[in-house]
Order: sequence, then structure tokens, then C-alpha cells
Amino acid sequence: MDKILELKNLKKHYAIHGGVLRREIGAVRALDGIDLDIYRGECLGVVGESGCGKTTAGKAVVRLFKPTSGHIYYYPADAASKAMADLACVTKSRIKKLGLRNRLQMVFQDPTTSLDPRMLVKNIVAEPIKTLQQMSGRDLENRVLNLLERVGLTRDHLLRYPHEFSGGQRQRIAVARAIATDPEFIVLDEPTSALDVSVQSQILNLLQSLQRTLQLTYMFVTHHLLVVKYISDRVAVMYLGKIVELADTDGIFSRPLHPYTHALLSAIPIPDVTHMPQRIVLSGDVPDPSDPPPGCRFHTRCPFAVERCRAEEPLLDVVETGHRVACHRKHEVEKLVAETFGSS
Ligand SMILES: Nc1ncnc2c1ncn2[C@@H]1O[C@H](COP(=O)(O)OP(=O)(O)OP(=O)(O)O)[C@@H](O)[C@H]1O
Ligand code: SF4
Ligand SMILES: [Mg+2]
Repeated sequence: MDKILELKNLKKHYAIHGGVLRREIGAVRALDGIDLDIYRGECLGVVGESGCGKTTAGKAVVRLFKPTSGHIYYYPADAASKAMADLACVTKSRIKKLGLRNRLQMVFQDPTTSLDPRMLVKNIVAEPIKTLQQMSGRDLENRVLNLLERVGLTRDHLLRYPHEFSGGQRQRIAVARAIATDPEFIVLDEPTSALDVSVQSQILNLLQSLQRTLQLTYMFVTHHLLVVKYISDRVAVMYLGKIVELADTDGIFSRPLHPYTHALLSAIPIPDVTHMPQRIVLSGDVPDPSDPPPGCRFHTRCPFAVERCRAEEPLLDVVETGHRVACHRKHEVEKLVAETFGSS
């Protein structure tokens, strides 16, 4: 499979300011060294507890801000496996020149806040095309209508404001705006979490069908494991700014090899997961990301932590083809889970 994006040791630290002079006194290490290849045409799910850095990872990849360090290599479809300049380093003017805002898009969780309430739908959808693709007049009108129809809306919706729509329809508008510039890659940040359960599957189906017809690549950020199981080809599990397990969806759900992944899966009822009879209940809160624990960041909550875990950081090693795990005890985890927690 062709790579579309390659992240190397990607970091984003948010400065913490304190004291009367508001000096920098520390940093939230929201994203703390991510290595990840994203393949053209796949849907990569990103899961983890609140605050583990999922949104930060998505925003960094589409360059909504400049990462603190690391590299983002982007391989456009039209460049025959040749990486564009390192996106982690490019300037705002170069982002514009390379058309990155056309190519890499993001859809946010809450369409109520991501859509301007004072703008008509036709202008919301037209805005990126006007500014990024310099289209106008009849061409622009036809394009907007075509986009609305693609997401299941009609001509009747063109002259309405966002508050005149349901939550699901508003998310459809946000999706129409995201695909307006013919992107190759879209970060979907909890795109169904703010919606009524009955509407969630409609939006998921819409996203899947658009992915197929427009040959899109998705990074699908969510804390909802059943959604990720349904929509993703591969899954990256994040903990405190790091990826701790990465595998195809079946590998994550049928053979999780990181204690944290086991714990996440234990927390939800998944009727058709075949090899997950045990339950690990996580104790304690996620540690402070401005002062992560040394060694393995999960050691303060891991039931299998040993001395080495407190001293040495585990690398994201390959366990089998396509399955990577960051745990010193990765080869013992299945046995440890069975011995410690038994079958339910
Ligand atoms: N602009 C910011 N300034 C300072 N800290 C931030 C900023 N944005 C995020 N953070 C912090 O970075 C860490 C990661 O946040 P992020 O929003 O990426 O997490 P998340 O995994 O998306 O969480 P959630 O599931 O709640 O959306 C958190 O500790 C958060 O408080
Ligand atoms: S490295 Fe140690 S603390 Fe970390 S997940 Fe593995 S067993 Fe647990
Ligand atoms: Mg988030």
C-alpha cells in the first residue's frame, strides 16, 4: 500500500505560563513523539482516554498549528511516491502555495460551534472553494449544490442558517465544506459524538460512502471503540501523548497485546469480540501530561508493572506483521491477563 503521510517523532508541547510575569514554567506534552505511517485509502482509527492527545495529533497532521518538533512527510497522489516538503517545518505562505488547505482537511466534533451561525449554508460551503480554488459565479453555485447533494441535502437547504438544521444535518454541512476542495485526507475528530445515537450510524454510513467514491483517506479520532471497530481498517491506541499499540482493527479487537488496550476493551460491552473474556479495570486517573511518569507512562496504572517499567521507556516494537506494541512484557501479556483476571 502507498503511504500518504509519514509522521516521525512528532511532538506538540503547549507552554504553561505562570507567576506575575507570565513566564513559561512548563509544558503540556500533549503529543510526545509519534511515529506513524498512514496509507492511502485507509481509515485509521485513533482511540484513547480524554486528554491523551488525539485531537492534538489530528490538528498537527493537517497543520492547524506548527508542531514543536518532528516531521510530517506528505506523499500527494500526483507526485509518484515523492514526498512534499516536510510539512512540520513549512511556513504559512508555503502552506498556501502548496495548496495544503485544499488537500488536507478536518471535521470537528461539534458542528454547532464549527459552523458560523451568521452565514447561509451556501456561503459556508462556498467559502473554501472561493478562497482556495478561486471559483465564482454559476460554476461556484453548481459546485455548492453538487456538494450538498453528495451529503444528502438539497437545493432547499441552500438559503438557510445552521440553527435551522438538526445536529445530523449540521454535521452533513460540515462534511460538505470539508470535501469542497477535493481533499485527499481528512481528520474526522469525533464526528458523531455530539449526535443523537439514531443519527450516528447515518453519518458513519455517509462518511464511508464518501470515502469510497472520492477515494479519501481518513484519520478517525474517537473514544468510542464500537465506532472505531465499525469504520476503521487499522487502529492506533494512544496513552499520554504516545502510541502504545498499532494494528489492524481485527488485531486490536481479537488479540490486544498492550495492557492499556486490554483495559479499554474491558470497559465496554462488545458482544462479538471472541478472545476477550477477561476484564481489567483501570484504577486512578491519567497522570499529568506536563509531568509524565518516567519509564513506561502507563506503569502507575498497569497491573503488570515491574521494576524495568519504571526505569526504561518501551519502544513501539513490531510483534507480528502490522502489529506494534510498546510494552516490555508484550509477549507475556495474554498469559498475564488470563492468570491475573481469569475468565469472566
Ligand atoms: N491549546 C491548548 N493549550 C494548552 N493545553 C492544551 C491545548 N489543547 C490541548 N491541550 C492539552 O493537551 C492534552 C491533549 O489534549 P487533546 O485535546 O489533544 O486530547 P484528546 O485526546 O483529544 O481529548 P478528548 O478525548 O477529551 O477530546 C490535554 O492535557 C489538554 O488539556
Ligand atoms: S511496559 Fe510495563 S508498565 Fe508498561 S504496559 Fe508494559 S507491563 Fe505495563
Ligand atoms: Mg479531542
